[in-house]
Parts: sequence; structure tokens; C-alpha cells
Amino acid sequence: MGARAKLTVVGAGNVGASVAQYAVEKELGDVVLVDVLEGIPQGKALDLAQAGPVHHYDSRLVGSNGYDETAGSDIVVITAGLARKPGMTRDDLLFKNAEIVGAVVEQVAAKSPEAILILVTNPLDAMVQLAWQKSGFPPQRVVGMAGILDSARFRTFIAQELAVSVENVTAFVLGGHGDTMVPLPRYSTVAGIPITDLLPADRIEALVKRTANGGAEIVALLKSGSAYYAPAAATVEMVEAILKDKKKILPCAAYLDGQYGVKGLYVGVPVKLGRSGVEQIIEIKLTAEEQAAFQKSAGAVRELVDKLKL
Ligand code: NAI
Ligand code: 2OP
Repeated sequence: MGARAKLTVVGAGNVGASVAQYAVEKELGDVVLVDVLEGIPQGKALDLAQAGPVHHYDSRLVGSNGYDETAGSDIVVITAGLARKPGMTRDDLLFKNAEIVGAVVEQVAAKSPEAILILVTNPLDAMVQLAWQKSGFPPQRVVGMAGILDSARFRTFIAQELAVSVENVTAFVLGGHGDTMVPLPRYSTVAGIPITDLLPADRIEALVKRTANGGAEIVALLKSGSAYYAPAAATVEMVEAILKDKKKILPCAAYLDGQYGVKGLYVGVPVKLGRSGVEQIIEIKLTAEEQAAFQKSAGAVRELVDKLKL
């Protein structure tokens, strides 16, 4: 790593541009924004650079339609892809985004062979698996963002329900990023007190459902796109944990090699994130019911991965 870290963000759309914004506001390093749209990454990079004097950051920002400028990146965040359009099935999106992510990964891996890849594009878990295979990188250096976002949604709803600070609320959401995600109320706490001691079961159930439906709730409101502020904030938490070698325990899509009874598959679990990437998979004790829900979620991820013949 040079004096400053180098972060590439591929896909200068809603999530990508917000990742760049939050990253420079925290002065995590210099940022290269890449997109296929001519002028968009260049324009957003220049605009963000011009916010620097006001927001007190010196990060350099560059926009590009190619990959030369990305060479030697420490971290590459991949948000490139399509959102689901009317008439498009989930499978249509799966194959289209696989094509995009596959091509992007080949190019970033060639230019930045030592980088850590953070995948954001949906369907998330399958895209991480694809990126890992296409890059040829060790699994520790390929990781997906979803669990922090899903947990942040759960934390928001818990804090609102109990009228307490979000800072007091921790929550864990495991499994794939989809309808089968597994929020874990037993491990979700307010100032250390499990929410199972603070809320009746039916209220917890309602918050869990709202969390699992969290992405769709925002799509229904925005109509023209999906969530991006919280997804970008979650992604930047991962970038910061890695660049500052914080060894932070965060739920991320990581490669399981037998942990939680799953082998050879990327699924959301708690991991330790540091300068080497995913430094440890944290195995927590699950009840039989939680384990069954986790297995079901992993099964849904496996189905998508099988469709892509990975
Ligand atoms: P967006 O449509 O605003 O941005 C996507 C960008 O990717 C566009 O600017 C597009 O031109 C670009 N792009 C398309 N093909 C490309 C290629 N071959 N190379 C480089 N850039 C390319 O979409 P948004 O809202 O930023 O979402 C991006 C992705 O992230 C979507 O797949 C979305 O579903 C996913 N997402 C995942 C979340 C998660 O929790 N993992 C949360 C939020 C979004
Ligand atoms: C979300 O959960 C679209 O996956 C994205 O908001």
C-alpha cells in the first residue's frame, strides 16, 4: 500500500457514487470510479472532488470508462449491474448481472492482483461466488456486502420500537441476502440485553418480517430504483474495517468450507474483517430452528449458484 490507500468502485450508479462519497468523507483513501456510461464516472468524481474543500478531505477522485486507472487498488467494490426492470424475472437478472460481474472481475483482477474484492451487485451471494471463481483470488480476499445492511435495518426497527438510541442496538442477520435471510433475535441486544427479554414474541416477529422485506419496502417507495444510502454506508464500514485493520466482527457473505455445515459456498455469517480480508469465520451456536433456517437460506443460494453452473 502506498501512502494512501486506493479504492476502486465499479458501477458509478446510486450505490457506487454513495460509496465513493462516504469513503472520501472519511478520508479512507483515493477513489477511482468506473462505469460503462460515458461521462458519468468522470462527472461524479469531479463533483465529489469539488466537495472536498467544503467537507475537508484531500482524497483524489478519478472517473473512468476503463481499468488502467484502477491498477494497484487495495480494495475494489463492485456495484455494477442492472436493477430488476418490469417484465424481467429474477433469473433474467441473475444471468445478465453474472455476465456484467464476470467481465468486471476479470479486468479488475488483472489490474489489481492483490486487491480485496467487495461485491454488492445482486443477487449478492451468487455474485460473490462468481467473483471468487473468476478472480482466482483466495476466498479471504473476496467478500460480499449484505449482512451489515440487513442488520442495520433490523437495528433501526428495534431502536424505533423501543425508542432508544440506534447506538445501543446490535443485531445479527445471517444467511443469504434474500427472502430467506435469518435475523437472530437471541443475538440482538439493546445495551447488552437480548431483545427477547424486552419485546413480546409477536412484536419481534413483526420486526423480523419487516427486516426480511426491507429492500422491497424501499423499492416500493422509490419505484425507480432500490436503496442506496444504507447499502453504501454498510459497504464503507467494510472498506474501513479492512483498510484500518480493525479486526471488526461483521456479518458478511463469506466462503464456507464446512462451517455451519455448509461447504464450498458463499453465505452470510459473522466474520472478522481486517487488512487480509476475511481473517476468520465466527461460528456461533444456533438452535435447531435457527440452524434449519440457515440451511434453507444456504439452499436458496446454492440453487442460484447451480443455475450459473459455478
Ligand atoms: P444503479 O443502476 O444506480 O447503478 C449501477 C451502475 O452499474 C450503472 O451506473 C451502470 O451503468 C453500471 N454498469 C452496468 N454495467 C456495467 C459494466 N459492465 N461495467 C461497469 N459499470 C456497469 O444501481 P444501484 O442502485 O447502484 O445498485 C447496484 C447493484 O447493487 C444492483 O445489482 C443492486 O441490486 C445491488 N444492491 C445490492 C445490495 C446488497 O445488499 N448487496 C444493496 C443495494 C443494491
Ligand atoms: C436491498 O436490500 C436492493 O438488495 C438491495 O435494498
